[in-house]
Amino acid sequence: MTTPEISSSAIEKIHVNLADRSYMIHVGAGLIGNAGHSIAPILKQPKTIIVTDKNVAEHWLSPLQSSLADHDIFSETIIMEPGEQTKCFAQLEILVSKLLNFKIERDTIIIALGGGVIGDLTGMAAAITLRGIDFIQIPTTLLAQVDSSVGGKTGINTSHGKNLAGAFHQPKLVLADTNSLQTLPLRELKAGYAELVKYGLIGDADFFEWLEENGASVLAGHAENQQYAILKSCQAKADIVANDEFERGQRALLNFGHTFGHAFEAETGYCDKLLHGEAVAIGSVMALEASERLGLCPKGRADRLRDHFTATDINYKLKNIAQNDWKASVLLDHMRLDKKVTNSTMVFILAHDIGDAFVTSDIKESDILAILNDSLEEIGGF
Ligand code: NAD
Ligand code: GLY
Repeated sequence: MTTPEISSSAIEKIHVNLADRSYMIHVGAGLIGNAGHSIAPILKQPKTIIVTDKNVAEHWLSPLQSSLADHDIFSETIIMEPGEQTKCFAQLEILVSKLLNFKIERDTIIIALGGGVIGDLTGMAAAITLRGIDFIQIPTTLLAQVDSSVGGKTGINTSHGKNLAGAFHQPKLVLADTNSLQTLPLRELKAGYAELVKYGLIGDADFFEWLEENGASVLAGHAENQQYAILKSCQAKADIVANDEFERGQRALLNFGHTFGHAFEAETGYCDKLLHGEAVAIGSVMALEASERLGLCPKGRADRLRDHFTATDINYKLKNIAQNDWKASVLLDHMRLDKKVTNSTMVFILAHDIGDAFVTSDIKESDILAILNDSLEEIGGF
């Protein structure tokens, strides 16, 4: 087992305001090693079941178990295989069976310790087991800390596509420990960074400017700046979710860059070739590019984002992932299958400026096709 350096910092807290489904997000260094203290007040019985994956367990399971034990909280543990393929019906069934084998009761709380895969799968298991039990998110990737652990979207992938079966099920508490990022592979950290930049792009130009100054230090592991960036992101998401929990409108802003990104992920087969956040980085540049080309946003904004991704060594070029046989029409077909399609019309998140995104379905498919074609032509004439 690798023992990461354990530091602690002043913990900052955010309230997610959702009436009787409200909860707190704690952000700071040392939260896992002190989890028992944060969790004890919300338990109805001194028993929890931790769900994690092998990679996360190696570094973070033991500190969590010890802290729970220190607070007289009994815990069982279920360790899943890491990776996107774990988010499927077969693994959901296995997980629910294991929870039932532990004689789970309605008052038992489940703890999801891991990235978005563990959070989404465990959240869904919590939503359906015994018709719904409480769960806590302890996100250990940057992506999960700034996005997937907050807002209550849970789910699995199906043979028809990604995240197509799921439930809205809010956690009772989120503990985002910046220490956990120390053991996260750099590629995963960078993928999460794209989701963090998203909050600047959709609604906070000052935060984008802050990232231009400090983004590199966030990626280099500067704990205070990581805490600040995660707090800003979680606050932005909490505000959006509080106004539109079930994504009837404004919540779709969180999908900035995702419609393009989704097409690239689908084309690469949702595998390690292209991580979700990597697709979002490319998709975010294309969303700004599309906004400029359609005359919705002043020129130069896509270049500003490209410059920031260059400075932080985040790939934004389609040519670094696309194969020679990629076709714009096929990418467009993937976009049509996205969950954001309503009444057969594709929904896009575009921007009037950095920090001023909007949701629209008023875009002609021919425009999107032209933008995709140009991007593909730029990378080698196909
Ligand atoms: P992940 O959960 O697969 O984690 C990435 C990798 O890092 C895995 O191999 C994992 O084992 C490892 N890992 C996690 N934490 C670690 C740590 N601290 N130290 C060492 N290794 C660690 O990937 P992710 O990027 O966190 O999540 C992606 C998933 O999140 C996707 O399935 C996506 O659909 C979902 N998602 C959900 C929402 C939502 O709102 N529910 C939002 C965005 C993304
Ligand atoms: N990650 C998008 C959402 O939570 O709505």
